[in-house]
Parts: sequence; C-alpha cells; structure tokens
Amino acid sequence: MPRYSDELIADIFAANNIVDYVSKYVVLKKRGSDYSGLCPIQSEKTPSFHVNADKQLFYCFGCGAGGNLVQFVMRTENLDFTEALKLLADNAGIALPEKTGSYDDVHHKKRARIYEMNIVAARFFRDCLLDADKGAEALRYFSERKISRKTINHFGLGYAPDTYDALLAHLKSYGFTDDEAVDASLAVRRDGKVYDKFRDRVMFPIIDVRGNIIGFGGRIIRDSKNSDFKPPKYLNSGETAAFDKGKNLFAMNFAKRADISRLVLVEGYMDVISVYQAGIKNVVATLGTALTQDQAKFMSRYAKEILICYDMDEAGRKAALRAVDIFSAESVRTKIVKLKGAKDPDEYINRHGIAMFKTALDSAVPSTEFRLSLLRPENDINTTEGKIGFVKDAAKVLATVGDSVEVDAYINNISAETGIAKEAIYAEYKKYVSAKTGKQAASPVRRISRGAGAASLPLQPPTAKTEGELINIIAQDRKVYTAVKDIMKPEDYSTETLRKLAALIYQKQSEGKEPDFAAVMNEFSDDPQVQSEASSVLYVIKKYGNRRDAAEQMVRKILLGKNEAQIAEHKNDIQKLGELIKEQTEIKNMKLIWE
Ligand code: CTP
Ligand code: MN
Repeated sequence: MPRYSDELIADIFAANNIVDYVSKYVVLKKRGSDYSGLCPIQSEKTPSFHVNADKQLFYCFGCGAGGNLVQFVMRTENLDFTEALKLLADNAGIALPEKTGSYDDVHHKKRARIYEMNIVAARFFRDCLLDADKGAEALRYFSERKISRKTINHFGLGYAPDTYDALLAHLKSYGFTDDEAVDASLAVRRDGKVYDKFRDRVMFPIIDVRGNIIGFGGRIIRDSKNSDFKPPKYLNSGETAAFDKGKNLFAMNFAKRADISRLVLVEGYMDVISVYQAGIKNVVATLGTALTQDQAKFMSRYAKEILICYDMDEAGRKAALRAVDIFSAESVRTKIVKLKGAKDPDEYINRHGIAMFKTALDSAVPSTEFRLSLLRPENDINTTEGKIGFVKDAAKVLATVGDSVEVDAYINNISAETGIAKEAIYAEYKKYVSAKTGKQAASPVRRISRGAGAASLPLQPPTAKTEGELINIIAQDRKVYTAVKDIMKPEDYSTETLRKLAALIYQKQSEGKEPDFAAVMNEFSDDPQVQSEASSVLYVIKKYGNRRDAAEQMVRKILLGKNEAQIAEHKNDIQKLGELIKEQTEIKNMKLIWE
C-alpha cells in the first residue's frame, strides 16, 4: 500500500466534510455540531448513528461502528484504505501520486486503462443498439423480452454488431492498441490475428460499486445458423486486471442505492433486469459462476437478510442450498423464494405479474425451514422409523445453524411434530455440532456479525471504560494531561487500543498541539473492532462539573481497579498482599498535582 504523506492525507480530509459526505447515505438531523440518523452500516429503526462536524468523526451508539471519513468510506464502499482515500481525493479534485514502477502502480495503470476502454466500448455497444440499422434486431429482442427503453438506458445495455473488428477499429480510433484490447478481454487473439470478442450479442455492462465498468456479459439473440457450432448463450469478459468474477456482483452498484438491509439474489442478468424493472431495486446476481465466499461476505456487509431467488430446476435448488451454506458462514439470514409455474424470476414476472412476484418474495421460506421441508418426503413420520430418521436428519441440518434461539425454536417444533422429547432431539443436535466443528453448540445469543459492521467488543478489562474516559478528558484539557501523564503513562492502560490512543493523544498534548481526532483515527485503519473501540473513546465529549475532580476520581478508580486485580492474583502471598493493601490506602489518599 503506498503510504501517503500526512500533509496529503490532511489535505484530503480538509477538502471533504464528513457531514456532507455521510448525508449522501443518511438523512441527518442537526443538533449543534452533532448530526444523527439511521445507521447505514447496521440497519436499525431508531437513529443511533451520529456524525460530528467538529471532530469529523462518526459513531454509532447502536452497533459501535465508528471512525473518520476514510473509515466510513471504507465500510460503505467496501474499499481498502488507499482506495477510499483515492475516492475522497477524486471528490476533491486532489491528485494522488503513484509510486512509479511498483507492482501497484503498473497494476493500477492497467486497470485504469481498462476502465477507460470499457467506457468507450459500452458507449459503442449502446450506439450500435440504438442504430436503426445495426441495432434493430437486438432492440426488438429486448422489446420482446419486455425490457423498456428506460431500463435499457438505466443498465446501459447495448449490442455488439456481427463483425470481427468493429469495436477494435473504434477502440483504435481512441488510441488503444490490439494488446490493450486483448488485455481488457474485449478482443481475442487467434492464429496471430486479433478479433472482437463479442459479436452479435446483446451486451450487459458489469459495473462495480464505485461505478467503474469492469467487464461485460453478452447474450446471443438468435439460434446459430450453423448447426455444427453452437455458441454459448452467454459470454462474459475473462478475468482482467479490472475484472474479478468471484468478488463482484451484477447490479450491486444500483442495489446499493436502495434499501439494502435485504438483498434479492438471482442467477441471471436478465433476472436482475426484470426484477429491477418491476421496482424491486435491491437485486443482484453473480457473474456467471456459483456464489463465492467473497461475494457472500461482500453482500453481508450491506445486508442482514438475503432472499435467494434461484431457478426452480434441480440445478437451481442445489445452487440455492450451497448458497445457504456459504451465507451461514457470514452469519447472514437467508430465505428461499419459491416461484411456482415459471423457471426463473424473469419468466415469473412476465407470466404472473409484479404483484405476484412481490407476494412470492414476502412468502420466502427461512432457509432452515426450507431444508427441513426437504427431509419430510424422505421420512414418513407416521411410522416410528420415519420419525427417528427425520429427527436425525433434522438434527444434522440444525447443527449448521449458527443461532441457538433459532435452533431452540426448531427443536420445539420438531418435538411437537414427532412427539420425540426435546431433550433427545437436542442431544442428537449436539452430537452433530461437536462432530462437525469440534466446537461447542451455538452460543445463546447470536451476534449478527456483519464484517466491518457490528463491532461487539471482546471482553474488556474492568477499568477499560474509565480509562477511555480519562483519555477523553486528557484530550480536551492540557492541564489534565500535565497532572496525569506521570501517574498513568500510555503503557499503563489495559488494552492495546487504549495504549495506542493514549500514546497518540499524549504526544499531541506534549507538543502543545490540539489533538486532531480524525487524524488520530487514521492510525487505526485496519480492524473495525479496534476502530470502534477507539472512536467510542473519542466521539463523546463529556461535560464535567469540575474536570479536575473528575480526572482525579478516574485515576483513582483505575488504580484501585488494578490494585484489586493484583490482590486477587496474589491472595496466597502474604508479603505481597501487605504491600498491595498499603498501596490501596495510598491510592485512596492520592491527589493530582495541578500546575
Ligand atoms: N451464464 C453464463 N454462461 C452461459 C450460461 C449462463 O455465464 N453459457 C450465466 C449468466 O450470467 C446468466 C446466468 O448464468 O445470466 C444464468 O443463466 P441462465 O439461467 O441460463 O440464463 P438466464 O439468466 O435465465 O438468461 P435468459 O433468460 O436470457 O435465458
Ligand atoms: Mn431466464
């Protein structure tokens, strides 16, 4: 990762106001320099998400997510630090230097070049589609499939004409070379010659969440005239410096603008387009491959619940079950949408209408229930043998469910259904859990872990909260810093994050500088949990009737807490115990010395 100078980073921060930026995502209500709204990271009903204009920080009192603007961009746009910084630099018209010659530099340049080429290509495909001559048949194809002009424009759909070099010639007129076109997977080289890759296909641009066109999918519009050679129905860009099929999703760029706490996952491009056209905008598809763990992770950053709406054939059902497994590793709820009387969502909407499709979405079955329902035809629960078989299979299914409340509810139902005691079902379930993972059964309350989102802190030392408050008050008041710095040194704090935070704040205070919280937060740009802990300390500026008294009480409380822990630890060492008890009295009588 190129490391940019602090000055440059400061410039980028200065040029972007966190309140303005966040307002693009969240409706904010102003109260002084504090703004609040619904958390865009973990969706919620009551506004516990706050942004502060003075501190240039955000913090969610609901899920604990917090940080500065770059960290906000990282989470909402799913970018790494450098990419987020770049986005903000772009926003502000600030140019970022590249480290010349490095892998990163070469790779980035290549990627940027492909983005440019893809824009030129997408415009070319669109112009061909709208060309009365060339595009007539393709346009008719879309209209037969009930795709409106508006939808065509929205998705930037196009048509690759039936020639071998129309796009290539066009790209060359823009200064791109054969090699570049091949590298971008817009052309192929065969027997030393270079041809357009996509010919006589309707074209679907694939756009990432930042709005870059990263690749294309192309579909045939008629059956092949040549019976010996059947071209594939869909052809997609190959992997390029810009295109990673396993990490991106079709239409995520649009879905992201909608209510995304719930996402509809479909199999095909045409499904996405039909569903979107029906007004359901939170819909995405994979890119011609089965769902990957990376894609599930990506979706779970945005969504709490995924409605899997795959094709209704055997392959679709199998793929849906695999997807359920993949999502369960990301602790995201899944439901299965059943569409009766159509093979896929696109066909369903065209046959049965939008209202019926919405009803089908609303009646989606929780995936656990769906999996259990598949077991019933295999076991006749009117017989004892069937009951036993069903309970054993069901226990196996439940063993993959991460939420013990859910497990408990299903065990109750299965017990009622079969008449087998809950305890027996639970014992069976536990057997599979430990066999599967070697771990314990699901813990009582599941945290919806949403990657960068919810940051439920690991068990904190008992004085950590007070230590955080002390750092906060030290950041506000140099006199407190001077009085406390030798009694509580940065290394005396009890967590890694607090020690780092204290060191940074102490440093600024010792230099006589005002601590810049957004800049301090940049030192914590990796782990969301750490960011959360750090911003929970910095975000709230508490008001104290008397800061000096408050600081003194905090120091005392922290030292007493540490002393108490040591007493517990040395309870068999009489001599040490004596010293510690003496120390306890000293702490109780301790006074801070004020300049
Ligand atoms: N796909 C692919 N290559 C193929 C067939 C399919 O990459 N030869 C991918 C495409 O992303 C396609 C998805 O798999 O959108 C689903 O395929 P399928 O269900 O066969 O097509 P539909 O999306 O239903 O397309 P259509 O309705 O146009 O037939
Ligand atoms: Mn289809």
